[in-house]
Amino acid sequence: MPHTLYANVQHKDTTKLTVCSAGITQCTGPGSRCGARPSAASDGKVEEAPANSAARRAVRSPSPMTKPYLAAAIEIAEEAGKILREEFDRPPNIAYKGEADLVTQADKRSERAIVERLTKYFPDHAIAAEEGTGHEGNSEFRWHVDPLDGTTNFAHGYPCFCVSIALAHRETILAGVVFDPISNELFTASRGEGAMLNSKPIHVSKIETLAASLLCTGFPAHKRMASPNIHYYWDFTLRSHGVRRDGSAALDLASVAAGRFEAFWEFGLNRWDVAAGMLLVEEAGGKVTDFSGERYRLGGPMILATNGLIHEETRAIAEEISQRDPDAPLRKET
Ligand code: IPD
Ligand code: CA
Ligand code: CA
Repeated sequence: MPHTLYANVQHKDTTKLTVCSAGITQCTGPGSRCGARPSAASDGKVEEAPANSAARRAVRSPSPMTKPYLAAAIEIAEEAGKILREEFDRPPNIAYKGEADLVTQADKRSERAIVERLTKYFPDHAIAAEEGTGHEGNSEFRWHVDPLDGTTNFAHGYPCFCVSIALAHRETILAGVVFDPISNELFTASRGEGAMLNSKPIHVSKIETLAASLLCTGFPAHKRMASPNIHYYWDFTLRSHGVRRDGSAALDLASVAAGRFEAFWEFGLNRWDVAAGMLLVEEAGGKVTDFSGERYRLGGPMILATNGLIHEETRAIAEEISQRDPDAPLRKET
């Protein structure tokens, strides 16, 4: 059934997106970041991909099916980024979800804006949003939303955080956006179309050895004691140029996609932390599995994302660490 994706959306660069009645007419105009083109639908409507056929077609040949989705995600992420920027200039309003697990007014405001807009544009789609205001939908499409990835950084005035939004059809991520409103870096990807940073294609790095690599990891705020990561952190620090812990998994993954880090790993991340970043890495030519080499599935217990070239070396060392140290299992459900 034809389904209106969104209408009369005001693009950041004041380009008007008129998807349902006129296709995305001007999104390729000067300053536009998404590059979306009009829908191919003859009546000018963009049809929602039916679960079993068109969505599969979209995965093989994502354009123009995924482009309107990406355009919407970009617009919404930039809007949410504005909210975070605004809140960042105010004294933080912090509450605790756990011992060291924070939530701020900014997380909530950003999520409200994102969920509201996604619901308006895609009323049938499910939304999984970190602060719990999403909802189930009637279709197999699900948005994974982290309204503020890097809350602890944000709450301490450390300018390393982002908005992360991705759309998946079942387990396949179709489009993803990671937006850092401080550096104004907009990372975007749609399946089969490559990854971009501020409209320019990005690629993973060409470094071939772990010893010459800069790595990144993270530690959960939630169930901290259950994470085996400190054991891996120690070894990988001694075997590389260093391991950063920047505090925003979505930006960490975007940095692998942009060739800034050769690898990122973490245990116990949620789907909204990684959905967009995982697509960025894959579309930038990298590889995403777990430490056992199994393809990473959204919500899996651990993620390893690399430039591909150091993947097997990194994995082999992880296996070695896990065999040596009973406190460092390769997979740990937390
Ligand atoms: C956290 C960040 C952090 C990671 C934590 C996440 P949040 O997300 O991505 O880098 O180490 O595991 O929970 O809580 O800031 O959205
Ligand atoms: Ca997060
Ligand atoms: Ca968050």
